[in-house]
Amino acid sequence: MSNLIRETVTSVHHWNETLFSFTTTRNQGLRFKNGHFTMIGLEVADKPLLRAYSIASANYEEEMEFFSIKVQDGPLTSRLQKLQVGDEILVGTKPVGTLITDSLLPGKNLYLLSTGTGLAPFMSIIKDLDVYEQYDKVILTHGVRYVSELAYQQRIEEELPNNEYFGDVVRDKLIYYPTVTREPFRNQGRLTDALTSGKLTRDIGLADLNPETDRFMLCGSPAMLADLTEILDGMGFKEARAGHAGHYVIERAFVEK
Ligand code: A2P
Repeated sequence: MSNLIRETVTSVHHWNETLFSFTTTRNQGLRFKNGHFTMIGLEVADKPLLRAYSIASANYEEEMEFFSIKVQDGPLTSRLQKLQVGDEILVGTKPVGTLITDSLLPGKNLYLLSTGTGLAPFMSIIKDLDVYEQYDKVILTHGVRYVSELAYQQRIEEELPNNEYFGDVVRDKLIYYPTVTREPFRNQGRLTDALTSGKLTRDIGLADLNPETDRFMLCGSPAMLADLTEILDGMGFKEARAGHAGHYVIERAFVEK
């Protein structure tokens, strides 16, 4: 377990019956880039039971934050959802990941496309001042089935714009676009459809998508990633790969827990 450290849970928040998030202490030696994921878990029968989780906190914050689904018979999340303040959890010391702007060609607008718990790495990225310096607009989309799954809404819409250090830049640059598929909401439908129909850019008042100006980070289910990459490829965008900068990067939301 040399690549694991123990952290202590400092808060737990249950968003609804299927989603929760929690914060932990952070060993100050633990380095990561905003958008990275790491292994986390619990000791079960004297062995570490670990899954990959995106870090939802920013790399300059004192605590770590994670956002999770609750799977009633999931080996890890059936246990993790019972976490209480003061409990210990295992955290991997080597965070990694592809959702970093270094891999993207310079651009004007950064679209963060997420569904479900795919939102987690973007909660870190929208607190990264370097990201705001690199783009005119940062568009955070979150596609979910039900309104109750729109976790972090208040933090995105109220807390970040009022942050004493970077609230002004968030107000100027961050555009939040939640969309719901299975009940009424102000934005309805899948992100894939909103992209192909032009509804997304129309709704937020930006120009049609264009490889000259637009960059993307994608995080969601395998099906969502497959459909979105096909759409983006069809529009002339190229994935960043193996050291070659591109127009978009992808990470799967680690959903089967
Ligand atoms: P839908 O309700 O039409 O299935 P999930 O919880 O299954 O990961 O879904 C989260 C959100 O992502 C839902 O709104 C769901 O829409 C949507 N979704 C599921 N599959 C895709 C896909 N292939 N492309 C785009 N959105 C998807």
